[in-house]
Amino acid sequence: MNTTFVHSQGSLQLHRWPLNQPNNSLQAWDAADELLILHAQEAISQFTLQHQRQPTLLLINDSFGALSSALSGCTQFQINDSVLAAKGTLYNRQQNNIADSGLQQLSSLAPYPAQPDIVLLKLPNNHSYLQYILQQLARVVTPQSIILASAKAKDISRNVLAMFDNTLGPATASLTVKKCRLIECSFSAPLPGAAAVEFPLAWPLEQTEFTVINHANVFSREKLDQGARFFLQHLPEIKSAQRVIDLGCGNGVLGLALLTQHNDFQLLCCDESYMAADSAQQTIANNLPDKLAQCEFIVDDCLSQQADKSADVVLCNPPFHQQHAVTGHIANQMFTDAKRVLKQGGRLRIVANRHLGYADVLKRLFGNCHQLAADPKFVILEAIKRS
Ligand SMILES: C[S@@+](CC[C@H](N)C(=O)[O-])C[C@H]1O[C@@H](n2cnc3c(N)ncnc32)[C@H](O)[C@@H]1O
Repeated sequence: MNTTFVHSQGSLQLHRWPLNQPNNSLQAWDAADELLILHAQEAISQFTLQHQRQPTLLLINDSFGALSSALSGCTQFQINDSVLAAKGTLYNRQQNNIADSGLQQLSSLAPYPAQPDIVLLKLPNNHSYLQYILQQLARVVTPQSIILASAKAKDISRNVLAMFDNTLGPATASLTVKKCRLIECSFSAPLPGAAAVEFPLAWPLEQTEFTVINHANVFSREKLDQGARFFLQHLPEIKSAQRVIDLGCGNGVLGLALLTQHNDFQLLCCDESYMAADSAQQTIANNLPDKLAQCEFIVDDCLSQQADKSADVVLCNPPFHQQHAVTGHIANQMFTDAKRVLKQGGRLRIVANRHLGYADVLKRLFGNCHQLAADPKFVILEAIKRS
């Protein structure tokens, strides 16, 4: 993996998080970071000259801390929806001997800090989340705030620029540099008739009376995922007092279904996304408020906070990408953590695309794996912890 990031003012050693990812061609920054850093440095210099102080930066979606590390001379608020991004940032700052004192990390659901001098935004790849971010920014920026955003040129459509125009104020995009473009935007009164979108989103769960609550950046934002639909037909039997983990819970739809089928068990919903863990909590609170007391909702990287041999069943509809990169390493980490956290005789049950070959992965890890069901696209697999 290339870890030497040369930017306009110096160089840094940057790693993706978690460390030791199998795909060595991936790196912890991209050309959109380079473009943003270049223009941010100019803006910081001008601001400092004009105001005789360093600006406060608001960094949004700084994947592994490239922005935070390169611009460490300024006080920063960093907002991410991903605990991996937050941890990666701290690791990379430490590796480059940057103190944590100037940095405050906030979750995607926290109120945005008031009156940031400079906003640096890496565009997320989903438009709902972009809309959410722009709406949050509209509450806190001023006409003096410098607002810069960057992304691959192919991701900066007219629609994206219209979202800036309608929510914050006039936005222009630069010419393409290394396949990326910079957006510059200044805040002004919202256009008349540009209604704010209501977040979180909510949609009816098919064949039930339930409503699923989805924050803007959560998987299957508007309807049930096909894999989850298949999984709902093949949920495990749960015994009284068992401890069950919904790993990568998203909006909590799997946990919700399990709670309707069984009484008297403990459910942990866990996700690396702040918006997902909160969506799962709201989904269950909204539909089964009486069951909330038997549930816990946490943000974690896989099951890193869970004790060995502490769960009876782990359910998982694993992710196959991290940010823009398609990768199996998170699924592998989820399976490895599940094995450690399961009690003797405990079960990991997953749904997966058939072509991913997870049966072999589970067989190697657990020594066994049973295919419980299959359709043309998905399989339901179960592995039992025997020793
Ligand atoms: C395919 S979605 C499944 C969501 C939900 N369980 C469902 O079936 O609709 C995978 C979920 O894993 C979460 N995830 C990704 N990386 C993770 C990690 N390192 N630790 C915990 N959860 C993670 C994602 O945020 C996402 O919500």
